[in-house]
Amino acid sequence: MSRLQNKHIIVAISGGIAAYKSAELVRLLITAGAQVEVVMTRGATEFITPLTLQALSGNPVHQHLLDSSAEAGMGHIQLARWADSILIAPCTAHVIARLAQGQADDLLGTLCLATQAPVLLAPAMNQAMWADSATQANAQLLSERGYTLLGPAIGEQACGDVGPGRMLEPAQLVEHLQQSFSSHALQGREVVITAGPTREAIDPVRYLSNHSSGKMGYALAQAAVEAGARVHLISGPTNLAVPADLKCTQVDSAQEMLTACQAACQHADLFIASAAVADYRPAQAADQKMKKSAPDSNLRLHLVQNPDILATIAHDFPDITCIGFAAETEKLLAHAQAKLHRKKVSMIIANDVSDTDIGFNSDHNQVHLVTANGVTALPRLTKAQLARQLIDNIAQLDQ
Ligand code: CTP
Repeated sequence: MSRLQNKHIIVAISGGIAAYKSAELVRLLITAGAQVEVVMTRGATEFITPLTLQALSGNPVHQHLLDSSAEAGMGHIQLARWADSILIAPCTAHVIARLAQGQADDLLGTLCLATQAPVLLAPAMNQAMWADSATQANAQLLSERGYTLLGPAIGEQACGDVGPGRMLEPAQLVEHLQQSFSSHALQGREVVITAGPTREAIDPVRYLSNHSSGKMGYALAQAAVEAGARVHLISGPTNLAVPADLKCTQVDSAQEMLTACQAACQHADLFIASAAVADYRPAQAADQKMKKSAPDSNLRLHLVQNPDILATIAHDFPDITCIGFAAETEKLLAHAQAKLHRKKVSMIIANDVSDTDIGFNSDHNQVHLVTANGVTALPRLTKAQLARQLIDNIAQLDQ
């Protein structure tokens, strides 16, 4: 799975001849697993049709700031919040100048002001326009404000000139975008992460389990890889694709998960327990499929408690920084604080699973970080955005 898997990318196209290459850019991003929304300036539509970009991205193209139907769907502020990254390609001298001035008289300008996501620019223009001192000063200002400039490349231009001003090739832009998702917050650290539910066998065909999708744990694993960590994901059964560049051990039961964690933690620096481990298992799994006995008779299962994996790892490996989750339906912070002390861990990430909007199978989550120093509330975010935020917070604990 690529680093762009499930990333929310806005490709913003402005009016330059290189706009024809943006179609290929969108295609490559989709192939890499990204979710793409396309924004086009009026000038861009002179060079390439919105229909082409709609067909390639699978989404209607956003063109206008004051479009009531668009605002009723994904309006400009929602779009700004949705984005993990905004790539303006091609980015004309005019757009560079407007961004430098902070103009907000069209969708693209508004998005760039409203977003918290990184904005990457792929300049494309005639070499003399790029070399002009006004463009250079504007580009310099934008890079000081945190915008990332990709290119331009040197070479032959559509107008016949040769020099710096060509847009980077779509594949190069995709490569840069991938790299932009790497931070070095956990560079060289070894991280073990549990994810998903466990299954506790009743007999060869039946089990006890829960609704955990594993999405949060998988997003954390991907974010940890992007932060430079060596990651060992220990996963219960899920339907998710395993992120690239990590080791994954698939397990079924809580006992298997504990055994795998104990082996994986020998050299670990961090242990993050996001799995929804079944608290109980049948005392004895039947060897053969259990048959119904007499009509109307009831079945009693004798359940015994499973090991607490997080508490066991925190106890057995005191040098590892351990982080747990607390999925609660009431008294969120009180229960989270109790778990912090009972399990002797450095942080509990508390979430309210009674809220179906942010619960087990949702793509969103909203959490509180509970440590010995107090409680921090994070905003409602997609699980991928939250994972990156959590990895940054966890990396600070580990320093
Ligand atoms: N956990 C674990 N092993 C268990 C149970 C929980 O490692 N047998 C971990 C979870 O991965 C999570 C944290 O402990 O990081 C808290 O899980 P949660 O289900 O909220 O709490 P429990 O300890 O099971 O307590 P309770 O069910 O009473 O709320």
